[in-house]
Amino acid sequence: MAKAKTQFICQNCGTVHSRWAGKCEGCGEWNTIVEEDPMGGIGGGPGKTPKKGRAVTLTALSGEIEEAPRIPTGMAELDRATGGGFVRGSAVLIGGDPGIGKSTLLMQAAAALSRKGHRVIYVSGEEAVAQVRLRAQRLGAADTDVLLAAETNVEDILATISEGKRPDLVIIDSIQTLWSDTADSAPGTVTQVRTGVQAMIRFAKQTGATMVLVGHVTKEGQIAGPRVVEHMVDAVLYFEGDRGHHYRILRTVKNRFGPTDEIGVFEMSDKGLREVANPSELFLGERNEKAPGAAVFAGMEGTRPILVEVQALVAATSLGTPRRAVVGWDSSRLAMILAVLEAHCGVRLGQHDVYLNVAGGYRISEPAADMAIASALVSSLAGLALPADCVYFGEVSLSGAVRPVSHTGQRLKEAEKLGFSAAVLPAASAELPKGSTGKWREVDSLPDLVAQIAGSRLKARNDQEDG
Ligand code: TYD
Ligand code: MG
Repeated sequence: MAKAKTQFICQNCGTVHSRWAGKCEGCGEWNTIVEEDPMGGIGGGPGKTPKKGRAVTLTALSGEIEEAPRIPTGMAELDRATGGGFVRGSAVLIGGDPGIGKSTLLMQAAAALSRKGHRVIYVSGEEAVAQVRLRAQRLGAADTDVLLAAETNVEDILATISEGKRPDLVIIDSIQTLWSDTADSAPGTVTQVRTGVQAMIRFAKQTGATMVLVGHVTKEGQIAGPRVVEHMVDAVLYFEGDRGHHYRILRTVKNRFGPTDEIGVFEMSDKGLREVANPSELFLGERNEKAPGAAVFAGMEGTRPILVEVQALVAATSLGTPRRAVVGWDSSRLAMILAVLEAHCGVRLGQHDVYLNVAGGYRISEPAADMAIASALVSSLAGLALPADCVYFGEVSLSGAVRPVSHTGQRLKEAEKLGFSAAVLPAASAELPKGSTGKWREVDSLPDLVAQIAGSRLKARNDQEDG
């Protein structure tokens, strides 16, 4: 059987297919499969005559460990996300949608490091030197010693950064523009991106320079996304945010040298990104404390507590099938909460549209938000505003029971710090702060919570509906 010369590689997830298809079986994306010549690329197998191997020295697990030497940028939010600063000799991937602010963030980081006396090289493959200079001026970074190059060829970049004193930090903006002479496929394809990234990682490991790689998250399939190189780098950070909102979150997805659940929060301004040391203030924003349907959730992001307002609107429907729309939360989780409310609490929502929104464009991923969301829903349905000085958290199970969640103490402390004097939380929660003056109301089931919020109002309503 003749061996196939080319492969069909999904540009979104890197899955290799033997023939072209409209939909990738690996990730389910459409029109992402592109024909590539694997020769000379990563994962292409033995394309050339294999050389004779060289034995490496085997070593023991115990032995001296060098503490990973870090270079902190001094930007607290960035350092928090990287676990205390960039690690020397490591490769960090920063992914995000085009236009979200990756280049801005890295230019600011480059300037900060350069001011501390580090040698920083910024390689831009997307913008011309003049454009980068313009941005640097706007960010107040033009007076620093950051070295700049506009180049996309991998071999030329390596030659450039190998010259002179070893750089402490090299920024490659972006991996999708990299192309190497050794790979035959077009720039932006999986093979080219992987070859380029591999070369940059090798440079980092050999010289001890930190390599920061920018990768655009791509929607259409002709360009390889950052996911295809996630496994190769030491740390993966995603820069996220909603275009309609002015704050940005740097989220750690993978980190070989630190924790992975940390976030850094930034606010966009015309002078660049500003660090937000207290994100709760940002997400609470301007609250209307008398409106029904709003509840404050005391959440956690990694080791840091965050308070955020969830808003619900429950309105009688005019459609056959009522609408359920969710922004910032999981819609299947909402369906579950609605089912539990209906089955165990006598809260009938079958004739109501339900809209749920998390303030500030923030995204909640914790199940601990269940109680806050249930409270907001009940409050909106009953038309009764929740107490303005109260926070809610706790996980709801299908039986209607409320389960304790982790970090109770930290959540309550953050709430107290921001002027909330009451909390509704699961019964049997551990680590309640001692000596605090807050009113902590413990509930052990969802019907309990519904009765506390709406009292007899919902029952009267049901009776009325039943005639
Ligand atoms: P940019 O950093 O170029 O995004 P990316 O590199 O991720 O594609 O930023 C996109 C645009 O947003 C750019 O025109 C500058 C603007 N911007 C600000 O004005 N202020 C800010 O704080 C940020 C982050 C961006
Ligand atoms: Mg950019």
